[in-house]
Amino acid sequence: MTNPKIEFKDVNKIFSGNTKNELILQDINFQIYTNEFVCILGASGSGKSTILGLIAGFIKATSGNVLFNSKDITRPDSSRTLVFQDYALFPWLNILDNVAFGLTTKKHKQNNVREKALEYLTLVGLGNYKNHSVNQLSGGMKQRVAIARALAVDPEVLLLDEPFGALDQQTREAMQTELSRLMTKTKKTVLFVTHSVDEALKLADRILVIGGKPGKILLDYKIDIQKPRDPSNNQLTSVRNILLDKLFQPELFMGADI
Ligand SMILES: Nc1ncnc2c1ncn2[C@@H]1O[C@H](COP(=O)(O)OP(=O)(O)O)[C@@H](O)[C@H]1O
Ligand SMILES: [Mg+2]
Repeated sequence: MTNPKIEFKDVNKIFSGNTKNELILQDINFQIYTNEFVCILGASGSGKSTILGLIAGFIKATSGNVLFNSKDITRPDSSRTLVFQDYALFPWLNILDNVAFGLTTKKHKQNNVREKALEYLTLVGLGNYKNHSVNQLSGGMKQRVAIARALAVDPEVLLLDEPFGALDQQTREAMQTELSRLMTKTKKTVLFVTHSVDEALKLADRILVIGGKPGKILLDYKIDIQKPRDPSNNQLTSVRNILLDKLFQPELFMGADI
C-alpha cells in the first residue's frame, strides 16, 4: 500500500484560554490517501476546523504528529489550500485578480499568472465574469471564485471548511454537484468539513465522524456506493442511520455547550 498523503498520529490539541487550558482534540488517528474525498462530519464546536487548521499548517498540535507525505507539517504551503465558508475574497480586486492572487509568488512566472487564473475561472464556469467585482456576484458565484483561487496553485490537497454553509439549499445542492464534477476532473485529494449528514453522504468516499468533549474520531466509514448517489437508495439510508446514531449519542452531549 502507498504512503498516506495525510496522517494524524496520536494528535492532541490543547487551546490555552484566559482562565484554563482546554483539551479540544484527543488521540486523533487517521490516514488520508491520494485522490480520496473525505468528509469530516461533526457538530458545531467538535474540532473540525481545528483539524483543517492543523493540516493547513496554521496551528500546531500540542502532541503527536500531523504528517503530509510522511513529513511533519510545520507551516502553511500552497500544496495544501483552504476554502472557508465566508469566501474570504478581496473586495478591492476583480474576480480574475482574486484568483490570480495566490499565483503571484516566485513559483509562478508573472506573465502566466492571468492566463492560469482565467483557466481556473473558466473551469468553475465564470470565465465571462473575470472583470466583475466581488460584490456583483451571488454567494454561490463567490464560492466558485474561492474554489478557483484554491485550485489555481495546483495544491495536492484541497481543504474545504463548511464551504456551502452560507448558501441557500438549492444553490448548495448545485455547488455540491459542481464540486463532485470538479474533483473527478482535477483528481485532488479532498478534505471537506461539514455538519450536514446529507452533504457528507452525497460527496464522500469516506466519512470521519468527530464528536465528544474532547473531540475524538467516533467512526471512520468508507462508502462503497457509486456517485452520483440517489438519496433514497436503501444502502445509503442504512449508512445515514449509522452516522446519525454516532452523531447523536446522548452521552456525547453531557456537558457540551450545544
Ligand atoms: N484559537 C482558539 N483558542 C481557543 N479555543 C479555540 C480556538 N479555536 C477553537 N477553539 C475551541 O475549540 C473548539 C473546537 O473548535 P472548532 O475546531 O472551530 O470546531 P468546529 O469547526 O467543529 O465547529 C471550540 O470549543 C472552540 O471554542
Ligand atoms: Mg468550524
